Amino acid sequence: MNKTITLIYGDGIGKDIIDATIKIIERAGVKINWDRQEAGLSAYEKYGNPLPEETIKSIEKNKIALKGPLTTPVGTGFRSVNIALRQYFKLFANIRPVKSFDGIDSLYKDLDFVVVRENTEGLYTGIEFMVNDNIAQSVKIISRDASLKICNFAFELARQEKREKVTLTHKANIMKLSDGLFLRVGREVANEYKDIQFEDIIVDAMAMRMVMNPRNFSVIVAPNLYGDILSDLGAGLIGGLGIAPSGNIGDDFAIFEPVHGSAPDIAGKNIANPISAILSGAMMLKHIDEVEAAFKIEKALKNILKNKENCTVDIGGKLSTTEFADAVIANI
Ligand code: NAI
Repeated sequence: MNKTITLIYGDGIGKDIIDATIKIIERAGVKINWDRQEAGLSAYEKYGNPLPEETIKSIEKNKIALKGPLTTPVGTGFRSVNIALRQYFKLFANIRPVKSFDGIDSLYKDLDFVVVRENTEGLYTGIEFMVNDNIAQSVKIISRDASLKICNFAFELARQEKREKVTLTHKANIMKLSDGLFLRVGREVANEYKDIQFEDIIVDAMAMRMVMNPRNFSVIVAPNLYGDILSDLGAGLIGGLGIAPSGNIGDDFAIFEPVHGSAPDIAGKNIANPISAILSGAMMLKHIDEVEAAFKIEKALKNILKNKENCTVDIGGKLSTTEFADAVIANI
């Protein structure tokens, strides 16, 4: 029986890049019933709700979703739907592989590491107060439970993918209680995985070392904010957000999505780069044990990207979104 997966186009370039992705998944031989649902600004404009109940119910039923980017109003309006989804479905791990492609201009070649970001707490709980008119306060939460879950996840991933080292990053020299707890838990977990090396690095030094010597890293585990920043830094090392996929994983649910936003400036022009969405689709296929199809897609992308002409315009090529998707399909 075909698997049913929730599909959310999202806003802006979402439809273009997700359509490209589902055509490619089909060509790779995986038949999926896509349960199409809405979220984001487009849902808000239509229903007055950026995260309709129907969408939540669909993910609850199907357990897995493939999602395009969602527009979030800045400084006002509804809270980020992405964060709401991560918290509601307890998607505690945000996985961001950083893998370079030969043909794409980038600072480094042959990079292959993964950022494992805690996805539910830290500075992203949205608990903020105005202490008075001139002082705002944000609350940072670090719990033993969430730290334990994400550190265990990072070591399990290292074992599964035969990666030799986990690097935990923190600022426990300043935030001795919150980051101190994260580090303590990381050290406890490391003690149970003697086959995998462990190190911890203060986050500012980590940023520098990732730029100067990124080949030293294999799995990086981080609290929410540092993971958010360092995973974008990682994407910058291999040529930008347009080629960086992500998965949000929980015990019962998982949502896969490109890491870039809805790119309103190029929406509707059929020029968006779908690589991040396609690679997120491949991550999703691995998650549902369609590993062979995922490898086929990754291999086709690798082949095509050897020649810069075959890229979309944002990375120096000539192809439109649909032409690029067709080229991948022809290569599978
Ligand atoms: P953005 O990632 O949408 O765009 C930044 C720049 O990169 C723009 O010039 C855009 O044209 C370009 N770009 C992004 N993706 C591209 C692609 N696939 N191909 C070619 N060019 C691409 O970031 P921005 O402008 O800060 O955010 C726009 C909206 O997206 C905001 O409402 C933001 O909240 C939302 N957003 C949503 C995310 C998600 O749903 N996961 C993640 C990041 C931002």
